[in-house]
Amino acid sequence: MLLAYEDLGRGPVVVLLHGFPLDRSMWSEQTRVLAQTHRVIVPDLRGHGASAEFEAPFTIDEMADDVIETLDALGVVDPVTLGGLSMGGYIALAAVLRQPARVRALMLMDTRAEGDSADAAKARESLARQVESTGSTAAVVDGMIPKLFAASTLERRPEVVAAIRSVMEKLSPRSVAASLRALAIRPDRTAALATITVPTLVLVGSEDAITPPSAARTIATGIPGARLEIIPGAGHMAPLEAPEVCNPLILSFLAGHG
Ligand code: MLT
Repeated sequence: MLLAYEDLGRGPVVVLLHGFPLDRSMWSEQTRVLAQTHRVIVPDLRGHGASAEFEAPFTIDEMADDVIETLDALGVVDPVTLGGLSMGGYIALAAVLRQPARVRALMLMDTRAEGDSADAAKARESLARQVESTGSTAAVVDGMIPKLFAASTLERRPEVVAAIRSVMEKLSPRSVAASLRALAIRPDRTAALATITVPTLVLVGSEDAITPPSAARTIATGIPGARLEIIPGAGHMAPLEAPEVCNPLILSFLAGHG
């Protein structure tokens, strides 16, 4: 399906994929900076933001196909630098494995290669049922907010936390339930990492409670030549929490590869 997107700047194309259950606004600290030297395309993923609500079952692979289809519609056929945070990283990995010719470099942020454990998948399913039966995403939002940010962000930057909370609260319960199920059934990509041949930047907040630095290390060890950057004092939303550290790292990676 075609996604809603923002398309800024000119130059080599960088595509940034947001996490769950967010939208493209989580990249606000990156888009205006990167757009000075690159064309930055920032979609709202299926069921999120301004893209169509989606309640039928879907997969991370289909979410990756949406991104490629949207690039096709924009006439972007040359390979792009594909970046993703968390769920966006799962989708970026799916895209590079399905359509390697469309990706020239990867930026995997606060994400992991492993699939859900049986327990994690079960917990997602019961959360999806709770969202459906109550018609409210409150359990997801309230459960995730404390885990998304480093303690210092939660304490000292209430405006950043409130902006993300308001994005999450706008999502439709049905789309959130369908996304939870897509996350739960995603495959383990660990073995496939060795087949990735594009330059890769792996970035993670040192305080990431959802996809910790150990998960980033697994990716960086698995993808030949990948570079690992750990952002001190940032949580799962490292690019939003610490743009002053992340942006120079991203720009220097892009200058070399993107
Ligand atoms: C995300 O930030 O995209 C989610 O936390 C991913 C997940 O729950 O696996």
